[in-house]
Amino acid sequence: MVKIHPSILCADHGNLEADVKRLIDAGADYLHMDVMDGDFVPNFGLGTEVFSCIKNYTDIPLDVHLMIRNPSKHIRFFRKLGAEIITVHPEADTHIAGTLALIKELGAVPGIALNPGTSVETVKEVLPLCGHVLAMTVNPGFYGQEFLEFTVGKIEILGELSKKYGYSLCVDGNINAERVKRLHPMGVSNFVIGTALFKEEPVELIRRIKEENS
Ligand code: DX5
Ligand code: ZN
Repeated sequence: MVKIHPSILCADHGNLEADVKRLIDAGADYLHMDVMDGDFVPNFGLGTEVFSCIKNYTDIPLDVHLMIRNPSKHIRFFRKLGAEIITVHPEADTHIAGTLALIKELGAVPGIALNPGTSVETVKEVLPLCGHVLAMTVNPGFYGQEFLEFTVGKIEILGELSKKYGYSLCVDGNINAERVKRLHPMGVSNFVIGTALFKEEPVELIRRIKEENS
């Protein structure tokens, strides 16, 4: 069964509680929390108050995508905010193996996120340390961007390697029902969905995606 991670960056922040409850009722498996520092990526968000706010009314696991430089400094902080999966960018971390070990030690699932231009070759040594691998299909920083077709070759390789290492393979960037159908047979089990999910009725879309890919 595929797992759906709605991107909270795309939610209506004026009605966050209603949106989150709707997503949970619809069958979301995780909430995807994008954290940006305005340096590693040219945007800011999500504020930590959003985490506390969400934790006030749900226990759904949070999947935290850290698009920040030197993420190791902030792992403890995000773990305390309730992160169950913590994904860091190897492009932003000089000592990625140490950071993954720290995430594991704190009881969360260690994940790496790969920019579209980052090859599998540069991270193959740390794949055995990962419980989660997030392949970016857009350049990170903003929702609503165009899907980058050239990332699909890498996704196929990561799908093959997931059988050996056992990590969950996730994609992030302009994912919709058609792309889930195309990428799931390549070994992608988890899908971050932003714009597509908030464009139509999420209950219907999540149900359809789960039915079509069971
Ligand atoms: C992009 C973020 C994504 C984004 C997804 O930098 O990491 O999680 O919010 O939104 P869509 O699905 O619109 O690309
Ligand atoms: Zn993300």
